[in-house]
Amino acid sequence: MFITIEGGEGAGKSTMMERMVTWLEDRGHKVVPTREPGGTELAEKLRAILLDKNTVGLSDQAELLLMFASRAQHLAEVIRPALQRGETVLCDRFTDATWAYQGGGRGLPLDDIAILERLVHGDLQPDLTVLLDLPVAQGLRRASRRGEADRFEEESSGFFERVRQAYLRRAESAPGRFAVVDASGSMEEVWSQVDGILQARLPA
Ligand code: TMP
Repeated sequence: MFITIEGGEGAGKSTMMERMVTWLEDRGHKVVPTREPGGTELAEKLRAILLDKNTVGLSDQAELLLMFASRAQHLAEVIRPALQRGETVLCDRFTDATWAYQGGGRGLPLDDIAILERLVHGDLQPDLTVLLDLPVAQGLRRASRRGEADRFEEESSGFFERVRQAYLRRAESAPGRFAVVDASGSMEEVWSQVDGILQARLPA
């Protein structure tokens, strides 16, 4: 199975990732936890460039292409081989993040994203995508407690509002794949929703 987790800043993805790994392992899955951008040595170098505040003047289109370059490498080295071995890949962000951040946030043409998606992994989509949704102001408050902002975290609340709406549109367009979670509550409240989704969507 290929499972992805998505959400805006401060949605609590890391904690949910950890709990999902444990949940899956307890039920006999061999889990490969990974993330985007990143997940391989080369892709982590691209991540460093993409998130570095000192990366100035990166064009929106170059940002989009670096996201997909990182993804192509990650698919080739980690995701596809693990799925072929019958393992469960749990990925912190995937192409839905590109639709949300580069499409919604940056306003890049969605047709371009669709073309790159088809080129890089047209035949492969996640089996399940858990979207942690919460009001932008609340997410930014939580994220600001984590320390120094990266290149994306420095964006305006208008940017993150567009990201949120783009994520919700993605979820509406693929209701069979997405499960939208209200991530505004406590960690336990959020986990109980995610736990319910895993129980309902994953074969015993
Ligand atoms: P995070 O994984 O710590 O949330 O940081 C990754 C950042 O990269 C986050 O701000 C979202 C951004 N991102 C994109 O803009 N497009 C993408 O396709 C992906 C995977 C991430």
